[in-house]
Amino acid sequence: MSLIRYGIVGTGYFGAELGRILNNLDHAKVTSVYDPSNSEDIADELGCESSSTIEELCSREDVDTVIVASPNSTHKEPVLLAAKYGKNVFCEKPIALNFQDCEEMIQRTKEENVVFMAGHIMNFMNGVRRAKQIINEGVIGDILFCHAERNGWEEVQETVSWKKLRDISGGHLYHHIHELDFIQFLMGVPERVSMSGGNVVHTGEQFGDEDDMLFITLEFSGKRFATLQYGSAFRWSDHFVKIQGTLGAILIDMQNAKMILKTTNEEEYILHETKEEDEDRAQLNKNSEMDSAIMYGRPNQRPPQWLQSMMINEMRYLHSVLQGKEIEDEFKPLLDGTAARDSIATADALTLSLQEDRKVSVVEVMK
Ligand SMILES: NC(=O)c1ccc[n+]([C@@H]2O[C@H](COP(=O)([O-])OP(=O)(O)OC[C@H]3O[C@@H](n4cnc5c(N)ncnc54)[C@H](O)[C@@H]3O)[C@@H](O)[C@H]2O)c1
Repeated sequence: MSLIRYGIVGTGYFGAELGRILNNLDHAKVTSVYDPSNSEDIADELGCESSSTIEELCSREDVDTVIVASPNSTHKEPVLLAAKYGKNVFCEKPIALNFQDCEEMIQRTKEENVVFMAGHIMNFMNGVRRAKQIINEGVIGDILFCHAERNGWEEVQETVSWKKLRDISGGHLYHHIHELDFIQFLMGVPERVSMSGGNVVHTGEQFGDEDDMLFITLEFSGKRFATLQYGSAFRWSDHFVKIQGTLGAILIDMQNAKMILKTTNEEEYILHETKEEDEDRAQLNKNSEMDSAIMYGRPNQRPPQWLQSMMINEMRYLHSVLQGKEIEDEFKPLLDGTAARDSIATADALTLSLQEDRKVSVVEVMK
């Protein structure tokens, strides 16, 4: 096995933890980081150098793969620069905030023949992997309908995070693209979509400008449907994906941290790697000041153990691909940016639907 050297762009809550995880893998080493606010500190902690620009990091000879974990609206520049210098890329979700940017990133990474993996971490959740296996074995039959909710209540915070600003994060739909992406993984790209909602109560200076209630309908070929809710104006918080098939159903319950298969009876499975991680997540959801469905950490926090375990699975997978592991067919669209692009296309179509108050065909925005 050869040593893979990683450079990280954006070393906040997520990027710094990805760096810690990578440094713990065999034959992996973080060699450089770039972040406009904490590069030096994180470089000291990770035992690497700090680059003073993104281009410097991407062009370094001792960087083989670039990890992009900066705010959502800033992903394109480092991805294109990484491709320019022939480096593989792992880019956090959402990879971009519109279809056209996704296309450009895919095109350039493809031309340079580099990996372009999207950080769609739900693929590395134990319960999700088990659900996919059960579905592939035909246990719940054909999927007819999926329903997801990612709802909570946002209180006033000390400062307004970039995660609450539409131009930078894209708002709930783009920032929390996980559930939409997972449903598309199971059902494909929808034909027509519609969205209603808006910024209902989180208005004024102490809040960001993202919509706090979103109600989504996806129509797939063959009379298959999905509905999703996202937002931070729900006092009754919930976080789950329900998959309804012709023979059975699956609940991926991220609020109470468990997975349930329902056929003639109900079977319960763990959601994360261990029962303790599940209990921790369920407890955290009960106690947190802001529901974890709508909140993600701050730069000086560490992710909880259940999330770290998923990040470890994800980084191990990336590292194994870079070491030459063959990519399974179902993961190919995750490793070339196309699954991520297709989710953003649907998000764009939904955004247009809300703006123009009509149903939108997803192909309309795919140009
Ligand atoms: N997969 C997941 O479950 C998950 C969870 C959390 C965050 N994320 C993603 O990770 C990324 C980072 O989120 P976070 O929670 O670490 O945010 P954060 O605010 O904690 O960290 C972002 C860091 O990026 C730095 N930064 C700002 N502008 C930059 C630029 N132009 N270039 C490089 N760095 C820049 C900031 O100084 C900060 O340190 C986002 O894309 C987010 O969506 C993914």
